Amino acid sequence: MLFELAKKFAFIQNIVVNLQTSLHPSIMHNLGKIEVIKKAMWHSELEGLTGDYFEFGIYEGTSLYAAVKAHKKIKSSFKRNFYGFDSFDDGFKYFDERDKHPYFKEGDFVSSYEKTKKRFAAFPNVKLIKGYFEETTTAPEAKNIYGNNKCAIVFIDCDLMHPSIVALEYVKPILQAGSIIILDDYFAYKGDENLGTAGALRTFLQTNPTISVREFSDYGYGGKSFVVTKV
Ligand SMILES: C[S@@+](CC[C@H](N)C(=O)[O-])C[C@H]1O[C@@H](n2cnc3c(N)ncnc32)[C@H](O)[C@@H]1O
Repeated sequence: MLFELAKKFAFIQNIVVNLQTSLHPSIMHNLGKIEVIKKAMWHSELEGLTGDYFEFGIYEGTSLYAAVKAHKKIKSSFKRNFYGFDSFDDGFKYFDERDKHPYFKEGDFVSSYEKTKKRFAAFPNVKLIKGYFEETTTAPEAKNIYGNNKCAIVFIDCDLMHPSIVALEYVKPILQAGSIIILDDYFAYKGDENLGTAGALRTFLQTNPTISVREFSDYGYGGKSFVVTKV
């Protein structure tokens, strides 16, 4: 009925176009993030995948909150921990000159660790790790954070290549067939496959040739996810 009317009257099509274009692109993208996290969580459930959720680059914690909620709402039969890594009060930092980008600038994306901690105060299975991944994940004792658990989902949302490689290397020992890797801003750096999160996955797979992945799902404005097929 609405479709028939819209075919006849251009003003109805205008209303739809106006509604869609007035939603800010970042809102559309973030809705896509929530959707892919939910999808990954459900997929892990159906596949009987044990293990935890890791997010690198949580900012104020919105997508981490989405992961916690998605897990709760599906009444998962698996106990999962949720790890959120971020520099919080320090924002972006370039550890590699190739990470320079006009939008992901040093010192930008500052958030409050204390505020974010409060946001998750009611969730004992959420652990926030403050500091640059280059420091928090490379100490030998850093592996104690996740102990013997596997990784079910890893969401890399720190935009830059260097910290993304560090993050992938950190979860490498606990990746398993079925783990889902979500990479935000996959087409940034003018689509250069050797930079940003795309460059990180590429480098990681070249350095670790036994690991292979297969495309899982695209989301939002330039996000991509993969399922690990072999470790
Ligand atoms: C786009 S924001 C994350 C958004 C969040 N996932 C969400 O959707 O709600 C990127 C975050 O990555 C963090 N980040 C970037 N490089 C980092 C590094 N080397 N170590 C720690 N955090 C980093 C930034 O501080 C920022 O908070």
